[in-house]
Amino acid sequence: MLQGIPEAIIDEIRQRTDLVSLVEEYLTLEKRGKNMVGLCPFHSEKTPSFSVSPEKQLFYCFGCGASGNVFSFIMKMDNLSFTEAARMLARRAGVKIPEPKAANRKQDLLREQIYALNRLALHFFCSCLKEPAMGKVAAQYLQDRGIDQSSIELFKLGYAPGGWDNFTRFALSKGYSEELLLQAGLVLTRDKSGGVYDRFRHRVIFPIFHINGKVVGFGGRALQEGKQSGPKYLNSPETVVFQKGTVLYGLHLAREAIRRENEAIMVEGYTDVIAAHQAGVKNVIASQGTALTPAQARLLRSQANTVTIAYDADSAGEAATWRGLKILKDAGCTVKVAVLPAGSDPDSLIREKGAEEFLKIIRSAAPLVEYQLSRLKERNRVDQAEGRLRYMSEALALLRQINNLVERDYYLKQVAEEIGVSEEALRGELKKYPGKGNDVNNLVLKDQTNNNNQIRINAAEKLLLSLIIQYEELATRLQDELNIDDLEHPVARQVLEEILKIKEAGLTLTEEGLIDRFSDPQAHALIVAAATEPSLQDLPWETIEKMAADCITRIKERMQERQWQEIQAKIKAMEKQGLEEQARNLLREKLQMIVKAGRSPYRSGGGENFNG
Ligand code: CTP
Ligand code: MN
Repeated sequence: MLQGIPEAIIDEIRQRTDLVSLVEEYLTLEKRGKNMVGLCPFHSEKTPSFSVSPEKQLFYCFGCGASGNVFSFIMKMDNLSFTEAARMLARRAGVKIPEPKAANRKQDLLREQIYALNRLALHFFCSCLKEPAMGKVAAQYLQDRGIDQSSIELFKLGYAPGGWDNFTRFALSKGYSEELLLQAGLVLTRDKSGGVYDRFRHRVIFPIFHINGKVVGFGGRALQEGKQSGPKYLNSPETVVFQKGTVLYGLHLAREAIRRENEAIMVEGYTDVIAAHQAGVKNVIASQGTALTPAQARLLRSQANTVTIAYDADSAGEAATWRGLKILKDAGCTVKVAVLPAGSDPDSLIREKGAEEFLKIIRSAAPLVEYQLSRLKERNRVDQAEGRLRYMSEALALLRQINNLVERDYYLKQVAEEIGVSEEALRGELKKYPGKGNDVNNLVLKDQTNNNNQIRINAAEKLLLSLIIQYEELATRLQDELNIDDLEHPVARQVLEEILKIKEAGLTLTEEGLIDRFSDPQAHALIVAAATEPSLQDLPWETIEKMAADCITRIKERMQERQWQEIQAKIKAMEKQGLEEQARNLLREKLQMIVKAGRSPYRSGGGENFNG
């Protein structure tokens, strides 16, 4: 028995569930060799390192080390316990699970109870809205806002009646405890007298669904303005089933359209999503006014390449929005920003000007950097020297964050032109305060937190491997210049050796084929990281060669420095033993070596180290 479910049943579920099609319900996979690969849903990345083996029915992420089978996948993905995962997959596969004898673990039970209570609340709010007398004000409000009956049903909108305890009394009468009502965030405790009262009162209810379609929380919009009725929107607090940072409003309905279009349109509010849907634009979700989290960004990234931001006209320039955009970009999304007419939001725009106008603005959305540059330009008066300088330094800070060299160069040209300086001068400025961008030193395995297979490797060695794996012609060209033993990292040495073997045998170098030659997970991690280093893609050949040559020079220098350090250690040992004469000879030899290598004898010994 595995936590109340007979093993035979677990086996049957496993046999009847195909990992590939399960994973594909959440992210897009592409065939690569024997495996299917996609962007890992468990960590942020720009190039796929999440790999599923249809044959072995296992998944593995070279980036973060997440791995497992159908059960572990769904547990991680939907935040389920083993029993919940088994039940979910059993339903999906049509396997019957006999009722467990003892109660499941406490937490499972609590979650199930909260889901059940949320469902009850959903039905309660929906029926209150339908009640002619009781729901009149709310129904009128929705009608005035142009939300039609089919939208009400699709989004399961409801009404939480006025008064203090309509829902509380209803739920208690159905046998739910005050304690559970509190844990579901549906009620609040009274100050003195004890007991509880409804959190949502006289509000239109927007239920919030998880991507799997379960109700996890509620948003309630006040029907009256003014202090008495509290904030305009009131939302469920975080509960064991509702983590705000992991939910996107409307995703359960938008998912298909988002994947079909390979684009998600992100708006701020509940009503923006509903208005867009109603007008036929279905790939729309809402961040619910809050700053985006990396988990939300990953969730989106697993569904689409491009995220187009269509925030309220007034909030697109706010700091929180910019942070959110960076989070999206870091998760590997292509981010575009649509600029709405002043004072409008998608909801009002669609209502006043129609869906076509909305789509027109969406289609003309600018790439993130372009948008950010135009905002910077607006803020500074570039027709005056002072403003121009400020614009330049702000723009440079932005350019330094661009990892793609080609993209960076493109915008550098643009800025140079805008402020009327030469490209060279601006490039010089850009290099003056190297940011976190593209320095060779930073091309270590990032993105690899929480990874047991993490490998610490010198930046030049990593970059060289990346270059060779991504541009295989290099391997043959470099054969004479590069000595494998110059490399410091043993795994890097092994990988390079295999690459050269493959090339010597006249075979094609593929990352999959290369991986298959190793059983060491460190080698796997290194190869995948090298093969997927995004900043190296699509570079001109001269740049590649120049970079490779630089790497080799640095690798050789480091190797020499290691040798010199060894000699230095020997000299020290000799001096200790009183072998003055030998020590002097060795020192002379060392200095000669250094001079011969064309380096200053005064700078030797202290090898740089770029460990990540
Ligand atoms: N929001 C919130 N709490 C608030 C204000 C806003 O949770 N006090 C969230 C809601 O999800 C809301 C979104 O932020 O939908 C966007 O806020 P806003 O633009 O003010 O909401 P609209 O949907 O445009 O509101 P309205 O009903 O006035 O059209
Ligand atoms: Mn709004």
